[in-house]
Amino acid sequence: MCGIFGFKGKGNIREIIKNGLKALEYRGYDSCGFFLNNDKFSFYDKKVGKGKIDELVLSIPLKIDEEVIVISHTRWATHGRISEENAHPHFDCKKEIAIVHNGTIENYQFLKKGLEKIGHKFISQTDTEVIPHLIEENFKKDKNIFFAVISALKKIEGSFAFLITKRGEDILIGAKKNLPLVIGFDGHNYYFSSDPIPITKYTNKVIFLQDDEIFYLGSKIKFYNFKKNIQIIKKFDELDMKEYEITKGSFDSYMIKEIYEQPEAIKRTLKYFLDETFERLLKQSIPERIVITGCGTSWHSGLIGEYMIEKLIVIPVEVEYASELRYKSPVVDRNTILIAISQSGETADTIGAMKKLKGKCRIFSICNVEKSSVVRESDFILLTKAGPEIGVASTKSFTSQILILYLFSLTYLFKKGRISKEKFNSKCNEILKLVEKMDFLLKNNNVEKIAEKLIYKTNALYLGRGINFPIALEGALKLKEISYIHAEGYPAAEMKHGPIALIDENMPVIFICVKDKLLKKIIINMEEVKTRKGFIISICDFISEEIKKLSDEIILIPHIENEYLKPFLTVIPLQLLAYYVANKKGIDVDKPRNLAKSVTVE
Ligand code: G6P
Repeated sequence: MCGIFGFKGKGNIREIIKNGLKALEYRGYDSCGFFLNNDKFSFYDKKVGKGKIDELVLSIPLKIDEEVIVISHTRWATHGRISEENAHPHFDCKKEIAIVHNGTIENYQFLKKGLEKIGHKFISQTDTEVIPHLIEENFKKDKNIFFAVISALKKIEGSFAFLITKRGEDILIGAKKNLPLVIGFDGHNYYFSSDPIPITKYTNKVIFLQDDEIFYLGSKIKFYNFKKNIQIIKKFDELDMKEYEITKGSFDSYMIKEIYEQPEAIKRTLKYFLDETFERLLKQSIPERIVITGCGTSWHSGLIGEYMIEKLIVIPVEVEYASELRYKSPVVDRNTILIAISQSGETADTIGAMKKLKGKCRIFSICNVEKSSVVRESDFILLTKAGPEIGVASTKSFTSQILILYLFSLTYLFKKGRISKEKFNSKCNEILKLVEKMDFLLKNNNVEKIAEKLIYKTNALYLGRGINFPIALEGALKLKEISYIHAEGYPAAEMKHGPIALIDENMPVIFICVKDKLLKKIIINMEEVKTRKGFIISICDFISEEIKKLSDEIILIPHIENEYLKPFLTVIPLQLLAYYVANKKGIDVDKPRNLAKSVTVE
């Protein structure tokens, strides 16, 4: 939520800021802005609305010979509506101290009231604006901008990553708590960003600032821990650049490219697990209980994990929304493992839940970003190798996460002596067969044609049973996220207890109807829908006369015997369906309204 990007140095400033902000747009795109500063001139600009970065940077001169400091921002609105006054940067009363901020200041109302009483004038409704005013106030006493920032940090409560500069001065300060801030250095210029992606264009030398750390960049960069009041030494790490290559290739959106990347992502994740994780996981004792947590799509993978782990390794599993878990009183001990699942590794609620259980049980994470906060909070890390996911709707991370949950189950099954190493290996070979089937399905399907039938619908119901019930949830989430059609996922039989009242000829019902032991039951549920004139789209791995009779449309997917691998195939047509419907409605699938890829606020 909100991206911050900063730069200090010389170069094509317009391009640097444009590229930086564009790479961070997945974190929010309600408005954008920058403040450009050096000892000769300072100015700022803001633009409201999606896709305004090109327009925003036009106010930066094409040629600037001097060294400059720029702080910039792309916003996902939390406090205050989407408007120019609420767009970042924000300033103090004299418009000397400029800030761009990602996060939420929880006690901002209290601080604002106090500051207003002593004469500070606020322009925006944001929580952020209290920070420059606090600094302005502290500066009167401290007479030193760095100390004034430190004093402000002692007063604010909440989460933040911010960049601050002072008009006309060679000063750039940044600090972080709970939210990411990365610093890059190419030998001449410094880059600052909410994630490493925009920096890797210029350098692979980076520092990930840690919680409670602050840097001061004048003629040199210095680091401090603002909580402990001590200076610290930090060294630049070298990033593996391949991990951060991001292009749309020949595709017209990141989302469709990422859907098509799934076979590769599965192969990479499998290889990495076997090479780097398997042996280490074997050394971890088998728990008596597992709690899985996450948000959105990651929560859905947790539900699939529950099904796999309970059936395969017979360990009780609970799956909790991270936003709920963090405020519950979960009963856990050292024989419990918490598995936190997150693509970005920066989701505030997931981190909150992990912190809540830290020290009380073992904490594992399934994460796609190696240097993320979720990874840092974990005792044991299971990395997915989906590669950077930019489209707001999660696709390739989902299938990579469920692969890890399957491999986790197989590893403990082997550790328990319930399968041999040969059997383990043959199960891994099955995954390679699955990859071929995923690839075939992506190249051979009729989803685009069927999507036409949903464009003018306002509702849709997704039904599945067993391991395919979470797939129904995921299909419905994809459709509502990017096509703005209201959709619900339900266990197919549970439909009778409510949603059946909604069924008529206008209600599309998407059934996941595969050859498994619940097939007969799902056919009965299809009959129930057909009797009420519902419009049935069936996702099937075989076709029978019965299915033909009941279905208005059929999407045929390849058959795979292993029930745990079926979700990898059933989810693909649902991702494609959401994509094609949104695309045909003219919606920007990578940046659907109101959403952000990385939800770093509660
Ligand atoms: C947002 C995204 C979803 C994602 C969820 C959890 O809502 O739009 O696609 O599933 O956050 O994100 P995480 O990075 O923790 O998996």
